[in-house]
Amino acid sequence: MSHRIAVLGSGHMGRALAVGIADNQQLDASIVVSDPIQEQLAGYTSQNVHTTTSNKEAISASNIVILAVKPQIIKTVVTAHANTIKNRLVISIAAGVPLSNLETWLPESTPIVHCMPNLAVSLNEGVTGMYANCHVTDTQKMIVQSVFDSLGEAVWMSEDSQIDIVTAVSGTGLAYFFYLMDAIIHAAKELGMDETNAQQFATRTALGAARIAVNSKDDPATLRNQVASPGGTTERALSVLDANRVRDSIMDAVRAAFARSAELTSSL
Ligand SMILES: NC(=O)c1ccc[n+]([C@@H]2O[C@H](COP(=O)([O-])OP(=O)(O)OC[C@H]3O[C@@H](n4cnc5c(N)ncnc54)[C@H](OP(=O)(O)O)[C@@H]3O)[C@@H](O)[C@H]2O)c1
Repeated sequence: MSHRIAVLGSGHMGRALAVGIADNQQLDASIVVSDPIQEQLAGYTSQNVHTTTSNKEAISASNIVILAVKPQIIKTVVTAHANTIKNRLVISIAAGVPLSNLETWLPESTPIVHCMPNLAVSLNEGVTGMYANCHVTDTQKMIVQSVFDSLGEAVWMSEDSQIDIVTAVSGTGLAYFFYLMDAIIHAAKELGMDETNAQQFATRTALGAARIAVNSKDDPATLRNQVASPGGTTERALSVLDANRVRDSIMDAVRAAFARSAELTSSL
């Protein structure tokens, strides 16, 4: 089945989604991306991606509408085009905007899926949490699943509130790993490695760790202990992380991201 998908907002995430969907051979989809600023629409090379500065035009040309604008303006965008959106499947990726709010801004019975992807969808390595309201049909669920599965992995959540946890863990989560890589690169340079090598060793190590963790039946705590032989370098390094309570700090960071979602919700 051919899908006509509108992506409103050509920022980091809108672009990543549009490129990821357009480049994916498994999906038969045409995409129209809208953004009020013409310059934001430059650089799309796929023939499957059309662009417009008119949200209305993008919505009219589509049967699926992805809302990829900032949470702070989503209400304005949605209410301005509520009539045009009518009878279309709506996918919101906005952090901290619960499905119940979207339901009050959109026409009654609009099928809405609240999704939380991460930027890795642009390389088909994303992970997306999804929650659908009761107006989304099984066929529409399969379509949404196939869109986000084709961009990595997609998981249905049991409640809409779980999406805020997904936001804190994986939507925001890429940044936690970039933070770690950045710290390792800085230390490597300080010890005398050149920038190029430091980047290569740190990022390939992160990739290796992720691949091992994804493919192993052991949890990351077990895997970490497997690397740490008694009296060795890893054990010494991990003892420094523990002494500095790095694990607690990372948990605090995840909690802070979760709390920020609630703040965004209350400011809507
Ligand atoms: N970034 C992530 O990793 C990530 C992950 C998961 C979910 N999200 C969600 O994805 C959404 C977009 O985030 P982002 O990081 O991509 O933000 P962003 O880079 O600021 O992108 C938003 C885009 O929307 C444009 N825009 C502004 N007003 C518009 C309108 N009326 N109609 C259409 N487009 C409009 C913006 O243009 P201007 O710049 O000119 O205002 C910008 O190009 C947010 O709701 C966020 O919560 C982001």
